Amino acid sequence: MISGDDTRSMAIKILGIETSCDETAAGVVEDGHTLLSNVISSQVDLHSPYGGVVPEVASRQHVRDLVPVLEQAAADSGLGLEDMDAIAVTYGPGLAGSLITGVNAAKSIAYSLGIPLIGVNHLEGHIYASWLAKADLESDPGFPLACLVASGGHTDLLLMEGHGRYKLVGRTRDDAAGEAFDKAARILGLGFPGGPEIQRVSAGATGEELLPRAWMKDTLDFSFSGVKTALLHMAQDHGLYPVIDEGVDQERLVRELAAAFQESVVDVISAKLVEMAAKYRVNGLVLGGGVTANARLREEIVKRSPLPVIIPSPVLCTDNGAMIAACGYFQYQRGEETPMDIDVEPGLPLG
Ligand code: KG4
Ligand code: ZN
Repeated sequence: MISGDDTRSMAIKILGIETSCDETAAGVVEDGHTLLSNVISSQVDLHSPYGGVVPEVASRQHVRDLVPVLEQAAADSGLGLEDMDAIAVTYGPGLAGSLITGVNAAKSIAYSLGIPLIGVNHLEGHIYASWLAKADLESDPGFPLACLVASGGHTDLLLMEGHGRYKLVGRTRDDAAGEAFDKAARILGLGFPGGPEIQRVSAGATGEELLPRAWMKDTLDFSFSGVKTALLHMAQDHGLYPVIDEGVDQERLVRELAAAFQESVVDVISAKLVEMAAKYRVNGLVLGGGVTANARLREEIVKRSPLPVIIPSPVLCTDNGAMIAACGYFQYQRGEETPMDIDVEPGLPLG
């Protein structure tokens, strides 16, 4: 586990709120690394008939779910809201209407309790999920760290030089990895979200080499739209898309193509992350974001990296409130209180 910079004698308890996309989530974390509660209400069932997140449906569901989620997060932690030292909330990047629900709730709680409000960058939150991870590390590797944030909206390689200090050194030039998984699953007639579905049907399947890799030489940037289009053409050629031909051995083909897609994405991400770690002479690797819940990606990065890899449990890789609380703790320690007139920032960058 990575330790916090505990400069205050009392344990600091932070409530983290996350509503940037389709998960209404809240968690309580002590001193930036001890998880006291983590409650997530997923809207997957609501959005899956559309094959993707419908922003207005998401915003309205956050309005319904947030108070019960907050109550549960407080109850599970064994604390009351009045025991919190600060309220951390995602204010970007994400869907504007979804972010507003969380930010306004956080403002109300912070204002009524007279405690600091801390606006957190969602991508930074994904990185700080690693501070919650009970990784099998004997010691803290220390900074600098090579961070991979791979989610539905981002595929970023960030050099983390210290708490809150990042340099963006690689990013996707088109689709995010999670977005590509979701589109690939749709092409193969699988459910939403696509990442877990592709992982599920790929288990034990062959066909790893069927699709190309977008190496994009001499850059740490990524591109995933080409492999998605190659998959589409292959699915069309084999009679899987748009409507499955009679007589096609659908199950076997879907499994093979899903495995091929997963391997292509895993191969490129693992190679570029390990290359970045060597280039910037870091001490360790940190994974975050929904795509890093992928078992093959986790396995492959650990296999290829000579350095320690800090990997949160899958539930802490996908969106959650605890990671926001963990990140908020380090901002709190630096005295970074957010003004009450903060607005949401749907395109907020990191690094
Ligand atoms: O971080 P996240 O929960 O939300 C965003 O910030 O976007 O990431 C969601 C993305 C989705 O695209 C989903 O398909 C992908 O993460 N994902 C996975 C897996 N679990 C979630 N992708 C690959 N393998 C998985 N096991
Ligand atoms: Zn996320």
